[in-house]
Amino acid sequence: MTSHKRLVSRRDFLTIGSGALLVGNLPFGSPLAAAADMAAPEAGDIDTWTSESPFLTRAFALVFDERNDANLPIEGEIPKGLRGVFMRNGPNPEFKPDEHYAYPFDGTGMIHAIYLENGRARYRNRWVLTKELARERAAGQRIYNSTFSPPPHANLANTNIIHHGGRYLALYEGGAPYEMDRDINTVGLFNYDGKLPGAMSAHPKVDPASGELLAIAYHLETGGLVYLRADKTGQLDRAVTFQAPWPAIVHDVAITDRHVVAFICPLVFDFSRKGPPAVWEPDRGTMVALVPRDAHAAEDVKWIKGPPFFHWHAVNAFAEGDRIEIVVPWYDAFSLTSAARKLELHRLVIHTDTNIVEDQTIDDRPCEFGRINDAYLGRRARYGYVGLRDPRPGETPQPGAFEAIARYDLQTGKKTVHQFPPGVTICEPVFVADPHGGQEEDGFIFTFVHEAASVGGSFMILDARRLENKPLAVIRLPRRVPAGLHGSWKAA
Ligand SMILES: [Fe+2]
Repeated sequence: MTSHKRLVSRRDFLTIGSGALLVGNLPFGSPLAAAADMAAPEAGDIDTWTSESPFLTRAFALVFDERNDANLPIEGEIPKGLRGVFMRNGPNPEFKPDEHYAYPFDGTGMIHAIYLENGRARYRNRWVLTKELARERAAGQRIYNSTFSPPPHANLANTNIIHHGGRYLALYEGGAPYEMDRDINTVGLFNYDGKLPGAMSAHPKVDPASGELLAIAYHLETGGLVYLRADKTGQLDRAVTFQAPWPAIVHDVAITDRHVVAFICPLVFDFSRKGPPAVWEPDRGTMVALVPRDAHAAEDVKWIKGPPFFHWHAVNAFAEGDRIEIVVPWYDAFSLTSAARKLELHRLVIHTDTNIVEDQTIDDRPCEFGRINDAYLGRRARYGYVGLRDPRPGETPQPGAFEAIARYDLQTGKKTVHQFPPGVTICEPVFVADPHGGQEEDGFIFTFVHEAASVGGSFMILDARRLENKPLAVIRLPRRVPAGLHGSWKAA
């Protein structure tokens, strides 16, 4: 059975000027808009539009329909025992944004979900119906500005979706989470019974042993940080405020069995500047924040100075003795206005006895979106999986859309690559444990696949143990799913 909303095809081309910022975020200049005191309209007669922005074309071109498609064609076979739902978030603005629209931080989130049940697959997608989107639908026009434009700003709920404490949470680092149900209907804003002091992180980590959720939220204007911890039932039991040495993006953290680790990179924000609000100041180095997981106060946080670098994500970390090792996609410098940069996979070794930070190169090839078997999060994990830049002749790569997936054996350095054909790109490769397996590598890689030449797209299941092999299953989708950000699997 297939159904989707009726579309109104009013083509209205939006041009974004060349002065648009490439990347960046002003997430904490965005107070939550007043709640719309009205019944939330549903996606229905949505005006579609197109854009020439590099962030809204090719793999990022938007979709405007909300679908529910069952019994999808499958090439190959879904591995036995896989039952559950994979959800992935990503920006998909419903209304035309202003000229400063920037990947990856603008655009209200849309969740794309694949349900696996008894060897069959079903697809469903829904916008996160934030209060701001509801207001815009009621008004029939955009009300909120892009992140790099002046207020008002919306909670976009567009970066990640996880399942914790019995709730599906759509996450954004500039606001509180939005709770979704399993059918990806929006339940509403979730602020931990009023205990969340401000924004949430888009990248909390869940400890596989305790079930605790650990995160650090940040405030770009003040440099304020908040260590957040929720127990396995979703009760927030820590909200410890402390101060970064300068205002910086803290998009992701890593955990060990003892710490939450954050990097304050020398991309220094100052909104009183003219021009871009952030400047690369490598002489500051990078300050490592080691937050004890049981921290109660700012004084509990240990700071260590390391070499300058920038990162968005952490693949994994672990602590052994006086060493903490962290693997990150590593940028040698970062600018809000220039795409020129070096991106490599690095291992940072923090010596907590001598306060020295070593920087080791694992691979000089660009990669992003690293994941591991989450059962090993915060422990010594052998394998990391990343989106790998592997450009094909004649193609212009897009940031955030990768041509290959790599598995790194972090013990031996061996790299195994799954390459995709020309025109085909992927985003985050998510490791899903094989319910019949017991070893770290026993699992599958799930990812939505964008096919430039196809009206449809696909969802792919690869064998994590034999990543280079052809997919175990390719689920054909009735229409393309745009490149997006982060997602997760919840077994039934
Ligand atoms: Fe991210």
